[in-house]
Amino acid sequence: MKKRLMLFVVCLLLLTGCGRLQETEPEEDQQDDTPVQIGLVFDSFVIERWQKDRDVFVSTAKEYGAEVNVQNANGDIDTQISQIRYLIKKKVDVLVVVCIDSDGLADVITEAKDAGIRVIAYDRMIKNADVDLYISFDNEKVGTLMGEALVQAGLPNKKVLMLSGPTADNNVSQVEKGFCTVMGENGIEIVGSMHADGWKPELAYDYINEHPELLDGLDAIMCGNDSLATSAVRALAEKRLASKIRIVGQDAELEACQRIVEGTQVMTVYKPVEKLAQAAAVYACQMAGGEGISTDRTEYDGTYDVPAVVLEPIAVNADNMQDVIINSGFHLEEEVYLNVRD
Ligand code: BGC
Repeated sequence: MKKRLMLFVVCLLLLTGCGRLQETEPEEDQQDDTPVQIGLVFDSFVIERWQKDRDVFVSTAKEYGAEVNVQNANGDIDTQISQIRYLIKKKVDVLVVVCIDSDGLADVITEAKDAGIRVIAYDRMIKNADVDLYISFDNEKVGTLMGEALVQAGLPNKKVLMLSGPTADNNVSQVEKGFCTVMGENGIEIVGSMHADGWKPELAYDYINEHPELLDGLDAIMCGNDSLATSAVRALAEKRLASKIRIVGQDAELEACQRIVEGTQVMTVYKPVEKLAQAAAVYACQMAGGEGISTDRTEYDGTYDVPAVVLEPIAVNADNMQDVIINSGFHLEEEVYLNVRD
């Protein structure tokens, strides 16, 4: 196993741009070929991106000789806690967790750490848990990019609505912070806001239908992700407002990219999840091999400063769709332009 660690330094450097990893010395060859066991615990696979996260993580870990046990809690925190306990019992070497509730896992993570298991908080911070590594995107910047795109597109009435994900997801407040700062700096009023429990897209549709008064003179809707945006645009389309009220989201889901080239969404934020998943898998294998890790920064989890790797999100609009989304292979050109080209 450790033989493969010689590749880690180069890979992590390329993936995350974290300079200090370069200092890690390659391991001496050793004979231990027992496969590393990684437990990979997801919130759910309802949102398009997570299947990509899973597939890239699993295939990267396999390349390094590790075995991955994937669990899906279908959005239920008690199920997620039981799944983590099951993986602790199975004595996995490393746990990689996409938490459902950032405040709800500290105790079970302590159980894992007491059992000698290293823990990675993947994409979402697990608060007050002192995880061994937090790896995510700059979520505040996601919100900043959304806000800047709307300001650039023009907000004549200075009125926007915010349809976010659940407050249980630590990323949500970070995105909102970035977004609200840009709105504040530009004198834009946030006329209403909603937090979709469990990231359920239909809640955006319901909210718009239940608050028709907010649509009067509304310039734009910030959607916490592209699935919420899909649902919001459906509600707007039924009211013939689809291209009148500007929409932003994140994840660069295929439908969102299609809407961008069609003109019913201003932008999305692309987060290269392949990079995230690859880097996390490499870190997990490195940790399992007994390696120390070194990152350029830390992130506060509410109690502890934990080692952190934070990747850059990228704003995508109709102008850079080709460059960012198609040339990177994230989506196929014919799929993105399906409805606008013959
Ligand atoms: C992620 C988003 C994702 C959302 C719903 C958030 O924590 O940052 O990319 O769309 O969860 O799964």
